[in-house]
Amino acid sequence: METTTVSQISQHSGQEITLQGWCYNFRSSGKIFFLQFRDGSGRVQVVFSKADLSDEQWEALQSLRIESSVKVTGLVKADTRAPSGFELEGKGIEVVQVAPEDYPIGKKEHGPDFLLDNRHLWLRSEKQWAILRVRDTIIRATYDYFHENSFIKFDSPILTPSACEGTTELFAMDYFDLGQAYLTQSGQLYLEAGIMSLGKCFDFGPVFRAEKSKTRRHLTEFWMMDAEAAYATHEDNLKTQEELVVRIVSEVLKQNQSELKILERDVSVLEKIQAPFVRMTHAEAIAKLRELGSDIGDLDDLGGDDETILTKQYDRPIFIEKYPAAVKAFYMKRDPADPTRVLNNDLLAPEGYGEIIGGSQREDDYDELLKRINEHHLDPKDFDWYLDLRRYGSVPHSGFGYGLERLVAWICGLEHVRETIPFPRLINRKSP
Ligand code: 4AD
Ligand code: MG
Repeated sequence: METTTVSQISQHSGQEITLQGWCYNFRSSGKIFFLQFRDGSGRVQVVFSKADLSDEQWEALQSLRIESSVKVTGLVKADTRAPSGFELEGKGIEVVQVAPEDYPIGKKEHGPDFLLDNRHLWLRSEKQWAILRVRDTIIRATYDYFHENSFIKFDSPILTPSACEGTTELFAMDYFDLGQAYLTQSGQLYLEAGIMSLGKCFDFGPVFRAEKSKTRRHLTEFWMMDAEAAYATHEDNLKTQEELVVRIVSEVLKQNQSELKILERDVSVLEKIQAPFVRMTHAEAIAKLRELGSDIGDLDDLGGDDETILTKQYDRPIFIEKYPAAVKAFYMKRDPADPTRVLNNDLLAPEGYGEIIGGSQREDDYDELLKRINEHHLDPKDFDWYLDLRRYGSVPHSGFGYGLERLVAWICGLEHVRETIPFPRLINRKSP
């Protein structure tokens, strides 16, 4: 008899198989026992009749608790009412382990703190399972897109000597005899070195922000994908972002219909994520926000609330480009048509989700870049290596970075990013 998985069950219709997993739920009615079984790849109902089992096996079934680990053997039967399309007629059960007490996460409603304290167990819940699988699809689609478009994976360091995105949000530590080291905020600056060797690169890894923001969009540790390309202009940069996001959403729609159903996600909203995205300048966005009742100033950065208001107006993502230089990072190239602004963009996801990507063309002139470093009160010594990239073979180049958790939250339709990463790190949480 073959040991297989729930995901493979359709290939075994009419056969007896063994599955290894956990007891998700159960109910008993007289001589029939209904076991809701899961094995990580999916869920299936196993129906046991007392008549088909030995007394010991029937007793073993009665001893089960939620999340007991079990191996089940049964006959695969097509069942149009079952979500998987199949049901198992139970023939045997092997109990691997029975928990000594009831599972902490029950059917009743739990508050977010309780669930986060029990994150190591909460991960098994159906909704969390679905989110983790969508996250995996997004990661895979990202790698596929970049590899198909000749970007090379380049691993930026996590321990760094200086800031990439502003000095106020750094996690610092003592680094042997070499003073302070910081956890990276983004691999971008290192990717800029990578592209001068490889042409087009991307990185993908954990980044850290000691941000005192307690919002539904902020984590202190999250996963960022940065992409960068030599000779790419601001226009090229927008095109890559658009293609990538369209590809990611279409891949989730292809791979994760059942997960989206579990998450009760309205897929018609995702089906509308097609090129071209909405595009406006920062100045146009400010005018639009004022029309919508905001009192935002001409040169203000957009806050989370502004992004929410704006993105509710459209059913496609919005590029907002050319922000005032004063509210953006030192490395962004000025717009030649208006040097008070930069050749950058944020990409905002619809339905109120807001910023998922930040990107820009980079300053490629040595003197200009040095000037910006000084204006931002950064120490040029820390950026000597970065300035070298403008000393030796500087070229126009552009790139962007997405926040994986923001993408997962939007695509899954979640309230808060804390459910989008296996073990969220927030300003008030570092465990489990
Ligand atoms: O806009 P950010 O700060 O851009 C950069 O770090 C650039 N160096 C990227 C680049 O050009 N290569 O961050 C990029 C994205 C944001 O758009 C957002 O999606 C996400 O990272 N992000 C966060 N996600 C969760 N929690 C936080 N605290 C985040 N801060 C930024
Ligand atoms: Mg940003």
